[in-house]
Amino acid sequence: MQRLALAWRARGEAVGFVPTMGCLHSGHLSLVAEARRRVGPGGKVVVSIYVNPTQFGPREDFAKYPRTLRRDLRLCREAGVDVVFAPSDQAMYPQPPGAGFSTFVLEEKLSRVMEGASRPTHFRGVTTVVAKLFNLVLPSVAVFGAKDFQQAAIIRRMVRDLNFPVEIVVAPTVREADGLAMSSRNQYLTGDLRVQARVLSRAIREVRARVRKSRAGLPAGRLRGVVEQIVRTAPDARLDYVEFFEPETLESVKRVRRGARMALAVFVGSTRLIDNAPL
Ligand code: PAJ
Repeated sequence: MQRLALAWRARGEAVGFVPTMGCLHSGHLSLVAEARRRVGPGGKVVVSIYVNPTQFGPREDFAKYPRTLRRDLRLCREAGVDVVFAPSDQAMYPQPPGAGFSTFVLEEKLSRVMEGASRPTHFRGVTTVVAKLFNLVLPSVAVFGAKDFQQAAIIRRMVRDLNFPVEIVVAPTVREADGLAMSSRNQYLTGDLRVQARVLSRAIREVRARVRKSRAGLPAGRLRGVVEQIVRTAPDARLDYVEFFEPETLESVKRVRRGARMALAVFVGSTRLIDNAPL
């Protein structure tokens, strides 16, 4: 991949990059469309498909994460992707972490809260693999989804702090008709769990409506109570966290006003789902 990327760079080609873990859905494809818009018809659009082991915790779903490469390749072809980069573990980590590989990229502030608090080594894996992918693909622009708002903020920070010559674009979350944010993990939601998963977007809608009605803002604690109540209506749902924060710094706010952002993580059965939105 890197050799091809260097040849493109020598020719001055614009390269748009969408990193993914595959099992592609319309959310991913919206990022591909945005990458194409950014580089124009003559530019190159690259999608990477790699289920990165270093961003999964020991008790997480790395082994069962859905892998649908043939279908993903077809979707990429239909979407006008120029190159799909789907490296093996051997190619990405020839010396596996713990047995030779020993360099990580660590963002030390934004990655401590929310997802980082619940999944302590997750963002270290994300920043490390995205740094590696940037060095292999050499993109001029990389597109991330607002679905993983904290991840996008951390990548932006990494790019700024470490001078990666790439522009980071964040594209809006694509949702199912009932409001559920699209996710490869939605496949785990069998039977009645799929309907129960609506509590995430319902909680966001309810909080947003309340915040927009109030002039002076509302206490975060009271809104947390509203979210807890909504999550309790689904018998198999359990709230992991809900946070109200400044979108730039991810710092939590005590009084929630329009312009703040909300993020939550909810277990629905054994599947952990996340969502977020501006209020
Ligand atoms: P993955 O979960 O496959 O997501 C790849 C990209 O698609 C991310 O930028 C994510 O925010 C975006 N995305 C996922 N669901 C979306 C939706 N419903 N609407 C819009 N965008 C959506 O995120 C990762 O992979 C990995 O952490 C990765 C960055 C590839 C590093 O391994």
